Amino acid sequence: MALHEFNMDSHWLPFTPNRHFRKEPRVFVAADGMHFTTHDGRKVIDGISSLWCVGAGHNRAPINEAIKKQLDTLDYATAFQVSNDRAFEAAEMIAAMAPGDLNKVLFCNSGSEAADTSLKVALAYHRARGEGHRTMFIGRERGYHGVGFGGMSVGGIPANRKAYGTALLPRVDHMRFIHDPVNHAYIHDEDPVWKEDPLLELEQRILPLHDPSNVAAVIVEPVAGSAGWYLPPQGYLKRLREICDKHGILLIFDEVITGFGRMGTNFGADFYGVVPDMLNFAKCVTNGVIPLGGVICRDKIYDQMMKTDAPEHVIEFFHGYTYSGHPVACAAAVATLQLFEREKLFGRAGEMGKVLGDAFHSTFKGLPNVIGIRSRGCAAAVELAPLPGSPGKRGYDVFLDCFKHGTLVRPAGDVLVIAPPYIVERGHIDQMVNTLADAIGRVA
Ligand SMILES: Cc1ncc(COP(=O)(O)O)c(C=O)c1O
Repeated sequence: MALHEFNMDSHWLPFTPNRHFRKEPRVFVAADGMHFTTHDGRKVIDGISSLWCVGAGHNRAPINEAIKKQLDTLDYATAFQVSNDRAFEAAEMIAAMAPGDLNKVLFCNSGSEAADTSLKVALAYHRARGEGHRTMFIGRERGYHGVGFGGMSVGGIPANRKAYGTALLPRVDHMRFIHDPVNHAYIHDEDPVWKEDPLLELEQRILPLHDPSNVAAVIVEPVAGSAGWYLPPQGYLKRLREICDKHGILLIFDEVITGFGRMGTNFGADFYGVVPDMLNFAKCVTNGVIPLGGVICRDKIYDQMMKTDAPEHVIEFFHGYTYSGHPVACAAAVATLQLFEREKLFGRAGEMGKVLGDAFHSTFKGLPNVIGIRSRGCAAAVELAPLPGSPGKRGYDVFLDCFKHGTLVRPAGDVLVIAPPYIVERGHIDQMVNTLADAIGRVA
């Protein structure tokens, strides 16, 4: 298919430099397994699971068939005051996979909606238990929780925030970022052990400043994915759990990336052995095929919200989306989760992640301008020194060069991430890592 067959006048691309894209378009027309086909018939390997979504690889027959069958059976039904059978089935499976008493699933359609939903649950829960003054949220620098006003406010990626000024939520603070480029620039499948305690700042500065009794929730990604795969120091999440418990603060894990197998376990919560009060998910739950997101809440949250004096016809939580628990999305989720289980793909993600991490460390260490490498779970990142005065340019150029040579990698500023589908083979890893190394050699 020739490019002139596309009219590019109407589609404003998300999170993309549109002016440059028009000069050098990258358009997919098909996908199967590990690969895309481009408009000009080239094969490109999907090194990032299409932004952390396609754990089981592309074009999986069981998921496609479940969707087609669902369309022919119950295409859609409103989610308010009634429901559909697939939503119950998917919720039961997701709750069964989640650790501890994370048992109640609120569906939405994306990670951004999951972030805003979880923040609203936190406020409503505290109010229901008589602590409506808890209105403060704490996120973390360089955290990413989507693009809604709530998620953006607790998020900490400067470029995503800078245009929105006072429209951001007012009662938000941020913990320091979890990266030590001096002592832990290179992390090879381990928990970095920090000499100092990064959470002292939370305990000794942030909480006393706002008073812990005013804080509704702390929200973090177990591993900072969108920023460029930054890994928590040893014991960090356990200590965060303890601090939240001590002060009655809810702990929210945003597992939109780490959920459903990326760490080789069901969730990042399992990997790090810490159960949050709410766990946000999206992406891999349907293998990316159809939008679905959600928040898994602990029993105590749901029970508190149901403990109301209002008459039974009154809605307990005024929140939801037209497409919450959409039957086709839920059918896709059920088929995806069954497929993950049948093919033992989370275990495979853990094993192949080690192969990927080894390849990263042995290939990139010592290359010009490489200043860090981090691997854990089924993802790895190589960090480049920014070009003076032009941060992000080097990363973007490497991404373009990789694409030209048949590999889709993810640039996060000057960090390049590979997070392949869990079906990845050693040969694919060699190909992707070699392409990335050549690109760094050519343009970085
Ligand atoms: C941790 C995290 N939360 C939320 C989101 C937003 O998800 P969505 O783009 O589906 O709104 C993302 C997207 O990458 C994410 O990584």
